[in-house]
Amino acid sequence: MADSRIVTRGVTDPNVIEAMRTVPRHRFVPDDNRAAAYGDHPLPIGYGQTISQPSLVAMMSEALGVGPGDKVLEIGAGSGYQAAILSAMGCEVYTVEIIPDLATRAKAILDELGYQVTVTTADGYIGWSEHAPFDGIIVTAAAEQVPGPLIEQLKDGAALIIPVGPAGGAQTLRKITIDEDGLVSSKNLGLVRFVPFTRTGE
Ligand SMILES: C[S@@+](CC[C@H](N)C(=O)[O-])C[C@H]1O[C@@H](n2cnc3c(N)ncnc32)[C@H](O)[C@@H]1O
Repeated sequence: MADSRIVTRGVTDPNVIEAMRTVPRHRFVPDDNRAAAYGDHPLPIGYGQTISQPSLVAMMSEALGVGPGDKVLEIGAGSGYQAAILSAMGCEVYTVEIIPDLATRAKAILDELGYQVTVTTADGYIGWSEHAPFDGIIVTAAAEQVPGPLIEQLKDGAALIIPVGPAGGAQTLRKITIDEDGLVSSKNLGLVRFVPFTRTGE
C-alpha cells in the first residue's frame, strides 16, 4: 500500500513509501479481514486491539526520522505490521507487546516473512533498557502521560513518537526529542485515536 492516501498525510520519504509498498499488510490481519487489508483504516486483530491505519503508520514512521542501520524500539507490537515497516526501512527493530498471544503471533508472521525483528512480551512502560539507547522510539497505544523511561532511553536528538491523551477519546500525536543539553521539546503532529496504553495488572 503506497498511494495517494500516504501522500495526503504529507509522507515523502522514499524509504517509507517503498516499505509501505513492499510489506504485505494482508498477512498481518486475521483471515476474515484480509479482503479489507488494503483499505486505509484500522482493523481488529483480536483481544480488543487493532492494526493501525496504513497512512498513519507511514506518517509515524517518517516522523521518527530513522533510516537504515538505526536502532528503533516500538511499544505495542500488535500484529507486527509497524515493526515490519520499520524493518523494511532497514532499521534494527525491537518491539514490546503486553498481550502474550499477540506477541507470539507477531513474532511468527515476522519470522515467516523474513523480517528480523526482536519481539518480547512485557509492559513497555519501562522500555527495553538492555538494548538502549535508541535512535527512535514509537508508541502505538495512547498514553495518558509520557513514560519517563522511554525518554531516558532515547539518544540525543532522537525522537519519541507517542499519542498522548485520554483513553477512549482523541489524543495528540507528539514528537518528543531531547537535545545534548537534556532539553526536552515536544511537537504536535495532530489528533489521532489509539487503543489505550495498559499496564501489567490492569
Ligand atoms: C494499535 S495496537 C498496535 C498496532 C501495531 N503497532 C501494529 O502494527 O499492528 C496497540 C498495541 O499496544 C499494546 N499495548 C498496550 N499497552 C501496552 C504496554 N504497556 N506495553 C506493550 N504493549 C502495549 C496493545 O496490546 C496493542 O497490541
